[in-house]
Amino acid sequence: MENLMIRTETVNDYRAVETLTREAFWNVNVPGCDEHYIAHILRDHEDFIPELDLVAELDGQIVGNVMYTKSKLIDEAGNEKRILTFGPISVLPAFQRKGISRALLEASFAKAVEMEFDVIVIFGNPDNYVARGFKSCKKYNVCVGDGVFPTAMLVKELQPGALDGRKWFYHESPAYEMDSAEAEKFDALFEFKEKKWQPSQEEFFIHSSSVIQ
Ligand SMILES: CC(C)(COP(=O)(O)OP(=O)(O)OC[C@H]1O[C@@H](n2cnc3c(N)ncnc32)[C@H](O)[C@@H]1OP(=O)(O)O)[C@@H](O)C(=O)NCCC(=O)NCCS
Repeated sequence: MENLMIRTETVNDYRAVETLTREAFWNVNVPGCDEHYIAHILRDHEDFIPELDLVAELDGQIVGNVMYTKSKLIDEAGNEKRILTFGPISVLPAFQRKGISRALLEASFAKAVEMEFDVIVIFGNPDNYVARGFKSCKKYNVCVGDGVFPTAMLVKELQPGALDGRKWFYHESPAYEMDSAEAEKFDALFEFKEKKWQPSQEEFFIHSSSVIQ
């Protein structure tokens, strides 16, 4: 990985990033995927953060990407705290498990600290993120709805002590809202890929429908 370069995305990378996002997510969580369409629409949203839109380039090929949006925490008194959420994060299947997402995330954490963000909240498979310092949302009293702690909701303090134990309610950016029919149309612009079932979809169902008591 000596030749791995982490840099911000440029307009010329858009198609490569959308293609690699599709390759990375295809059939992983559900048959097919929408994440390449989400990447496509996210860039135009006011909550998108261009400085934290990073690509991993290996010998001239774009092999990974991470995108961030602004999100917020609101406490019981109505105080708001601006925080970050990342996603999609994608690494081309042939290059996975070689430390590329680690390199992307560590570079983005350093940049986020420079930008004076101190908390990141995401939804994801804990296996991928506990080694990056993410912990269960329950450990930080960060919840959704009327006090639910989803298993997949993970929190990282970029500054230790940024969260003081009070109850916070997480609010995701509307940037991730998408129209499935538009996502289908967008997908038709790419090379045909077969939608099918694979066991990771069951793992996704278990993680995404579980809560911590
Ligand atoms: C999830 C994804 C982005 C991870 O990227 P990656 O470059 O393969 O990840 P890394 O090699 O940097 O490993 C990240 C962590 O995963 C875990 N990991 C790595 N190899 C592993 C293996 N063989 N088995 C289980 N866990 C492993 C480790 O915790 C690792 O942390 P470490 O740096 O301390 O070893 C990538 O697999 C991907 O694009 N998947 C499809 C899309 C997706 O699911 N995105 C995330 C949605 S939540």
